[in-house]
Amino acid sequence: MTDSLPTPPASALPSPSLRVAPASQGWEDSEVTAQISGEANVKQFQKIQRDFRSDTLTIQSDQMMLAALRATRGDDVYGEDASTGELEARIVKMTGKEAALFAASGTMTNQLAIRAHLKQPPHSVILDYRAHVHKMEAGGIAMFSQATTHQLFPANHLYLTAKEIEKALELGSNIHHAPTRLICLENTMSGMVFPQEEIVKIGEVAKKHDITLHCDGARMWNTAARVIEERGLDATSETDRQTVMTELLAPFDSASLCLSKGIGAPIGSVLVGSKEMIDRARWFRKMFGGGVRQVGMCTAAADFALDNIFPRLAGTHALATRLADGLRKAGCDILAPVDTNMVFFDPSRLGFTAADVHARLLQLPDPLIGGMAERVVVHHQINPQAVEDFITTVQEMKNEKGLVSHGTEGDAWAEEGQLRKEMALGY
Ligand SMILES: Cc1ncc(COP(=O)(O)O)c(C=O)c1O
Repeated sequence: MTDSLPTPPASALPSPSLRVAPASQGWEDSEVTAQISGEANVKQFQKIQRDFRSDTLTIQSDQMMLAALRATRGDDVYGEDASTGELEARIVKMTGKEAALFAASGTMTNQLAIRAHLKQPPHSVILDYRAHVHKMEAGGIAMFSQATTHQLFPANHLYLTAKEIEKALELGSNIHHAPTRLICLENTMSGMVFPQEEIVKIGEVAKKHDITLHCDGARMWNTAARVIEERGLDATSETDRQTVMTELLAPFDSASLCLSKGIGAPIGSVLVGSKEMIDRARWFRKMFGGGVRQVGMCTAAADFALDNIFPRLAGTHALATRLADGLRKAGCDILAPVDTNMVFFDPSRLGFTAADVHARLLQLPDPLIGGMAERVVVHHQINPQAVEDFITTVQEMKNEKGLVSHGTEGDAWAEEGQLRKEMALGY
């Protein structure tokens, strides 16, 4: 049953001319109230505070909904929605690209980019074997762009290098091959930050051979938050965000930036690139049925998320590190570097599996939804107590088994990366 929603008090509404003041960086119980959002959403909020399956599970806070309420209601297919235009212009400025386009999902912005870049078969796309654009988008590259994907396995088990990409390029005019026209990278990849110096080198290789470079930046905001933190910059400063995002995206011709993951907007993704490419993508967005009319409520929510949730990501990442440290201390192997918000763990040396852990977490008096296989995702609405409960449960399971074990430490990533590869992890 849906609760009937009372009219929000005027004092709760953000002023149309002022952005809502940034929330504190910590997790807050009062984000979703029955008064504004109804009992069902308070319950949903309580549930997702203990749900580690994905960062797509976050829900809109009252303040985000109120910002959405104030959005303009123009028709974006006619190009007449101010909130959407403002968000696109903001992201253009932040990324240093010529143009931006909002679309319903990250899958759509990736596929629009690939379709807009690729003109005429035969052509092929080089990517990591784990790449979402190839593995998790229902074969869209073949369907929409008639391209072959050329998957590479990174020799270091973590990220592709310029050297291995250059070696794999299909160049020249041998009619047996589909020439490489596009390279797709992903940042973050399984929560790992792609080393920027390697991206710069890949960009140089791409330029040298006149090949386009696209970034699936579904979690680029997490990468940016990590870089901002490392450099001692200010995550609430638009100038600092602009400096970092522009630098991170400089080697790319285009990037898809999801709004509904790290920063917790309800819907959407923004594609950035050259004006010519975005014009083509807009055409394809219409063709794919992705032109949305009064979409301002989504773009205003995303604008709110950039101001209010982006600055919290450092806290989210710290919670992921806390989880990884606790699991490692309990004796689990941590299968990939925990640079941002994902932890891949394997407790098998303790005598049980990740699936056993998830089953046990569901049995807690205050149940916890543990994750998908070895992957555990920390999002900005995870309650820190949920992280502690996760660690304590694994400790208890270990004590029951009575096995003494120490999880892998430090830099054994190559070996563990191999393990991940064998387990076909990635998402
Ligand atoms: C790396 C990556 N790229 C793209 C997407 C697609 O995003 P969406 O679910 O909005 O289509 C996802 C979704 O989880 C993702 O993890």
